[in-house]
This record gives sequence, structure tokens and C-alpha cells, in this order.
Amino acid sequence: MRIFVLKSNTACLDNINPKSPASSGRFDVVLDFVLECLFDRYGPRHDVVVYTVLDGCSPCRILKFDISNVPRRRIDSESEVLKLIFEKSVQVLDMNFRQFLEMLKRDGVKLVCLFEEGDPVDKHLRDICSGDVAFIIGDQDGFTQSDLSVMREVGCRFVSIGPIPYLSWFCCVYVNYLLDTYCAST
Ligand SMILES: C[S@@+](CC[C@H](N)C(=O)[O-])C[C@H]1O[C@@H](n2cnc3c(N)ncnc32)[C@H](O)[C@@H]1O
Repeated sequence: MRIFVLKSNTACLDNINPKSPASSGRFDVVLDFVLECLFDRYGPRHDVVVYTVLDGCSPCRILKFDISNVPRRRIDSESEVLKLIFEKSVQVLDMNFRQFLEMLKRDGVKLVCLFEEGDPVDKHLRDICSGDVAFIIGDQDGFTQSDLSVMREVGCRFVSIGPIPYLSWFCCVYVNYLLDTYCAST
């Protein structure tokens, strides 16, 4: 299973203005992340789970999206993802970032932090083709020092897809492409 995790330090479940997600703690970044990571042109992918860590207000909440709680068709608008959240179709986890990563680790998931200055991804491709892997991706401002410390302490590896900083959603599109191509041929 591929798990994509967005660590947002600005988005919050309590104050979303549906008319302007971008001015609601950059909730647009969360919505685009879900759209681009989970859905292909036919509908939700079977092999992907998306978590969005909403650390923009206290307490931190984590939303889980996968094929079991989203429509089995292509969704391509932010407003449709917002509707799922407002209708409470998606699972909400009450835990903080560290507790969440520790839970994944206990479940045997490999933890990969996507970080511009990390190790080149090619070195890790073979290993991340097998088993469950979580890719942790920063928000529009990247990770805070505290996020980086938590990830180091929990034992994440730091992996780069190149020196250029890409948008958060683009990273999952690229990782999906890489793994679809590379892992299918190994
Ligand atoms: C918009 S970027 C963060 C902002 C970026 N640090 C900057 O200088 O503007 C969002 C996140 O995508 C991931 N990311 C973006 N480009 C990357 C790259 N070239 N390699 C690995 N991860 C990347 C990182 O997790 C990053 O925190």
C-alpha cells in the first residue's frame, strides 16, 4: 500500500470557509493533495491511502481518505472533497503527528519523508517497491524544525526527488508515476 501524508501546519478543521479554502489556512493545499494523490482518471486508486495532518489549530486532527470512504468515480473539484469532509464521510483520527507516525511504524510501514535535501530517490526505489510505504510531504511552507525533529526521532528516511521544490500535490503525482513505472518492471 502507498500512503501519502500531508503535514499541514496551517490547515484546521474548525474554520474552513467553503467559498475560499485558500484563505482558510491554505485548505486548498489539503484538497488538491487529496484529489491528485488518490484519484486517477477513472476514480480512486485501490493501492493508495491519503492522510492529511491538520496541525493548524489545536488539537491536531488527521483525516483519512481511501477507496472505502470516497465515491468510486473520478472526483476533480475541491468542493467535492470539501463535501466529503463536511458530510463526515471521511475518518477523523484524534492524534498528533508523532503519535500518528509511531502508529504507522508499529504497523510495519516504512516512513519516507520527501525532503528537497534528502538522499536521491533512485537509491531507495528497490526498497520502497515492496511492503507498505508512507511518503510524508510538507505543506506550502515546507516542514518546521519541529516536524523534522519528530521525523528524525521516529526514524524516517529523508528522500529527495530533485533540487527543485515542487508543490505538495505534484510530489505524489510524481511518486505514483515513479512507482507505477519502476516497481512494475522489477
Ligand atoms: C511546496 S514544497 C515546500 C516549500 C519549499 N521548501 C520551498 O522552499 O518553497 C512542499 C513539500 O513538497 C515536498 N517536496 C517538494 N519538492 C521536493 C523535492 N524536490 N524533493 C523532495 N520533496 C519535495 C517536501 O515535502 C516539501 O516540504
